[in-house]
Amino acid sequence: MSAVMKSERAVPLHTIEAAPVPARFARGWHCLGLASDYTDGKPHSLNIFGTRLVIFQGEDGAIRILNAWCPHMGADLGLGAVEGNGVVCKFHGWRWNGSDGVCDHIPYAKRIPPKARIKTWPSCVQNKLLFVWNDPEGALPPVEQAIPRIDPVYSDEWSDWSIVNWTIHNNCRELIDNIADMAHFVSVHGSTNVVYFANLFEQHKATQIMVGANDRLGGGDYLTTIASYYGPAYQITHMFGKMGGVPVESVLLNSHTPIDQNSFELRFGVLVKKFPGMSDEACDAMVKSYVELTNKAFGEDVDIWHNKVRIDNPLLCDGDGPVYQNRQWYEQFYFDAAAVPAELTKRRFVEIDKGIAEKPEARHAFDN
Ligand code: FES
Ligand SMILES: [Fe+2]
Repeated sequence: MSAVMKSERAVPLHTIEAAPVPARFARGWHCLGLASDYTDGKPHSLNIFGTRLVIFQGEDGAIRILNAWCPHMGADLGLGAVEGNGVVCKFHGWRWNGSDGVCDHIPYAKRIPPKARIKTWPSCVQNKLLFVWNDPEGALPPVEQAIPRIDPVYSDEWSDWSIVNWTIHNNCRELIDNIADMAHFVSVHGSTNVVYFANLFEQHKATQIMVGANDRLGGGDYLTTIASYYGPAYQITHMFGKMGGVPVESVLLNSHTPIDQNSFELRFGVLVKKFPGMSDEACDAMVKSYVELTNKAFGEDVDIWHNKVRIDNPLLCDGDGPVYQNRQWYEQFYFDAAAVPAELTKRRFVEIDKGIAEKPEARHAFDN
């Protein structure tokens, strides 16, 4: 009895440490969901990066993004109307040009004030998704960080995107930890046998490669997933293998946009490859059940994120994935571009092989 008590006292305590969350938001492309959600001719407001943005399609077809708070007297431009390639504020009718953010019309003034300009945000459409570029220094997006094309998005052999949104009440680093968190696949998602797990970090890309059996998703068959972050907030997963003995292939979208330092919006999407000869109805039903299953799996993570604290010094064991290296990769997006330490963007490959017969290739998903 006394020996047990003595050994208990001898174990040192690990105290959780956490610095305040960063004041800035990550530099990089952030996905705003389906581009078609913004092409109805109306302005749409969105809370993101600690402010509000307005998104609309101009008459030339291009989607534009501006700060939503009108600098005249602060109204939300999202309540206004699209006119030409600009947006007219509902409060006093000032019109803001969507390309350069300059006010080009005030219905009741002879002279437009010289500082009447509003911030514009670089955007792009890729894979039928809309993206906005955030850079606290105001630089334009570098070409080498362009979002890669996913051919299945444009193929009739695949379903359309099915996307759901969640609001998560925590800092978005909690989501990023997932890249390296091998152990939670067993405890949270019911993977019965992860036989291979690896992480590849390289420049602005971070990839998780996993082979495992999952009774909930794959019915005991093995699934390979290659899940790649392109930048701080947009992850694409290529999943293939068997489900209930039948070959399956899917693409998953996991993207987030920070609302503020303590909450973020998460978009989770699925594209499924149709079986040959499958009717549209059968395909829709398959996509629906697939979305429900994968969505449920995400819900399992959400419960955890809503009930955890930030921890800068996680107490890891030898079976954990490279959580610290992963966070180092993620830190690059919070430095000024010219000040990013080379250490954070260098190629690193960390592998946990539990005896797989044939290893998957160490590569990023849809890298082209
Ligand atoms: S607040 Fe927008 S025009 Fe006055
Ligand atoms: Fe998870």
